[in-house]
Amino acid sequence: MSHTSERPDERVAPAPRKVSFDWAGTPLHWVPGDPFTTHTINVLHLLLPAGERWFVHVYRQVLPYIRDERLRADVIDFIGQEAVHSQAHDDVLPQLRRLGLDPTPYTAEVDWLFEKLLGDRTLPPGRARRWWLMERVALIAAIEHYTAFLGDWVLNAEELDRRGSDPVMLDLLRWHGAEEVEHRSVAFDLFQHVDGGYRRRARTWATAFAALVFLWQRGARFFMANDPTLPAGRASVRDFVLRGQQGVLPSTPAMLRSIPTYLSRSYHPSQEGSTAQALAYLAASPAAQAPGPEGGR
Ligand SMILES: [Fe+2]
Ligand SMILES: [Fe+2]
Repeated sequence: MSHTSERPDERVAPAPRKVSFDWAGTPLHWVPGDPFTTHTINVLHLLLPAGERWFVHVYRQVLPYIRDERLRADVIDFIGQEAVHSQAHDDVLPQLRRLGLDPTPYTAEVDWLFEKLLGDRTLPPGRARRWWLMERVALIAAIEHYTAFLGDWVLNAEELDRRGSDPVMLDLLRWHGAEEVEHRSVAFDLFQHVDGGYRRRARTWATAFAALVFLWQRGARFFMANDPTLPAGRASVRDFVLRGQQGVLPSTPAMLRSIPTYLSRSYHPSQEGSTAQALAYLAASPAAQAPGPEGGR
């Protein structure tokens, strides 16, 4: 993890960027010879389309509670960025289908999770409705701790380049990761602004962390079991720890260290990651430069 001395009042307002990716040349195992790493990272394409759509849905409801104009502007830009991220990962799924890997059974479960289990419940206006909204705002802040962690990781994961990983997929991951680093303070600042209770922060972190671990290992197992080139594809914790040591996945010690970081009472997302590095990547990202109706800013 890289650290900077950026302070909350120096954060950069996150501007949404339009991007364009051409998936026609991306192989099934886009980390060459390493289906496990490929599919572990591919889980992002299963979780993020529904997950980031849900962020947008929840944040639209919280806008009336924001009494700080700068924060409101940041939240609106955050909504814009997450909507583009969600669509960009969704656009990878047809290519997976073309390569013989149909993600529908898994994405149907993820859609149910975000739209039904975490969706708007039939609640009376007032305290109950507000409680459920704040609970979800806190969950998003906890999840954004991990999207920033992963964004910072992928911007620095040079081993993926050394292994000859597909440049289009790397660009998707790093463009998205850079915007996650760029807007890493917004979800936490919003939670602090509208609620900020420490017990709620800790409780929703535990829920988010357990759900992410569960969904991720299930997604990796799903891809490994359904990969048409792997007769008996499996995914294990040992594979994950090993790839972390090799630098092609986040390391387990770094992930464990991120737990007390988020639970520290002095935590602020600006303490981790580098906005300068993120902006430098975004200035050079091929997808963010692409011409045409979807390209440019
Ligand atoms: Fe995102
Ligand atoms: Fe995000």
